[in-house]
Amino acid sequence: MKEEMQVTNQRYRLGYHLMPKSGWINDPNGFSYFKGYYHMFYQYYPYAAEWGPMHWGHARSKDMIHWETLPTALVPGDMESGCFSGSAIEHDGKLWLIYTGHHYFEPNDNESFYENQNLAYSEDGVHFTKYEGNPVLRVPADNTKHFRDPKVWKEGDTFYMVLGSQGEDELGRALLFVSKDLINWERVSILSKAKNLKEEGYMWECPDFFHLDGQDVLLMSPQGLEADGDRFRNLNQTGYIMGQLGEDKVLSRGEFVEIDNGHDFYATQTMLTPDGRRVMVAWMNAWDSDMHEKQDGWAGALTIPRELHIKDDHIYQQPVNEMEALRTAKLIAGVMETGHEYELPRTAELNLAFEAADGELFTITDGEHNLTIGADTEGGRLVIQRNTKDGERAAQVADFANLKLQIFVDKTSAEIFVNEGERTFTERIYWDAPLTIEMGSSCQAVVYKLEEETNKY
Ligand code: FRU
Repeated sequence: MKEEMQVTNQRYRLGYHLMPKSGWINDPNGFSYFKGYYHMFYQYYPYAAEWGPMHWGHARSKDMIHWETLPTALVPGDMESGCFSGSAIEHDGKLWLIYTGHHYFEPNDNESFYENQNLAYSEDGVHFTKYEGNPVLRVPADNTKHFRDPKVWKEGDTFYMVLGSQGEDELGRALLFVSKDLINWERVSILSKAKNLKEEGYMWECPDFFHLDGQDVLLMSPQGLEADGDRFRNLNQTGYIMGQLGEDKVLSRGEFVEIDNGHDFYATQTMLTPDGRRVMVAWMNAWDSDMHEKQDGWAGALTIPRELHIKDDHIYQQPVNEMEALRTAKLIAGVMETGHEYELPRTAELNLAFEAADGELFTITDGEHNLTIGADTEGGRLVIQRNTKDGERAAQVADFANLKLQIFVDKTSAEIFVNEGERTFTERIYWDAPLTIEMGSSCQAVVYKLEEETNKY
């Protein structure tokens, strides 16, 4: 019997983010609503704080914030060597998981594999059975081995699936399929494809497709983009293409836009809540992140849920309203003064309004690990710096005279919403001692202490 990992040190554990009991997680999967609960699954390896043969971990919640971890939903082995990313949907009173079966040709050769799409189902939303007729979709002839991460939704009586793929030209693309029963799938179109390798990548992981505020949005995580100034500074990127779905089921499209400019954000998934909100979560790391928590027997977490909207042809992200229930005390309401230092709890929400001049706005620090936010007014850039290797990230911001930042600090992470979510930065930073915020510029502030433990195992 293999032994599950144990967490050996609590120092980097998060307060209100979904994270594993122990072991490794990456992408969110199967974000859905079933029989009165939100369900979240995730890529999970319980036996090391490293990526390994992929399971689906599982948690449920009434509010997307307080999560109860449930038994592991999918274990690889009988039908595939890994259960890779996918989605979930209710059908016939059951919760169905649609996941990628990842199969190795040779046990120790990560490069030689094939992928297909599979189902599992549950009556109670807790115990899952793999469908005996798996796989339900095999790789088409015009595709390479990259064929994964199905996202399924329903319109009328038809199920749709968007799937990450690489065409024969070795460029990333998203394929569209339809089905009446989740079992028999028919290909409809190449929904969209990369215009070239440098700007749009060789494989589109974790695609998601939805209608939002009058536009059709394809959200995905392309691999292999080349850095260009402030753009594409991470090894892997997540972003979107916006346009209109044509009669031919091809997306007429604009540019690929990064959706988060921080270091630690990848592999998004969205869902439509019962009250009609489009809510997105992501893995709050990336493949090249440091993940210092590995030495403590765990790795990885998911971002807070963010509601999406489109304004001026751009996706805005806002923390879901449910986050307000996390506030346990109002610590500051008023002016925070230039040159002053304020104590900050390790779980906090800061709402700061600046008339920003060029230079440093503030630094959040435990004395050793610094997160500094500054304005480069000439370049129109808001700049985030961690004092780590390759620590800088930046995004374009138009209006510094009226700069609003909402920041969620959680033990070893910070999610920064700029100007009502026009831009976001998601960062892990390995603070391990009490925090202070040192002001380089004064601002109007409302600061809350937030709840410290929302995961139940
Ligand atoms: C994205 C990804 C997916 C894949 C999964 C494997 O981070 O590479 O494409 O399904 O992770 O864990």
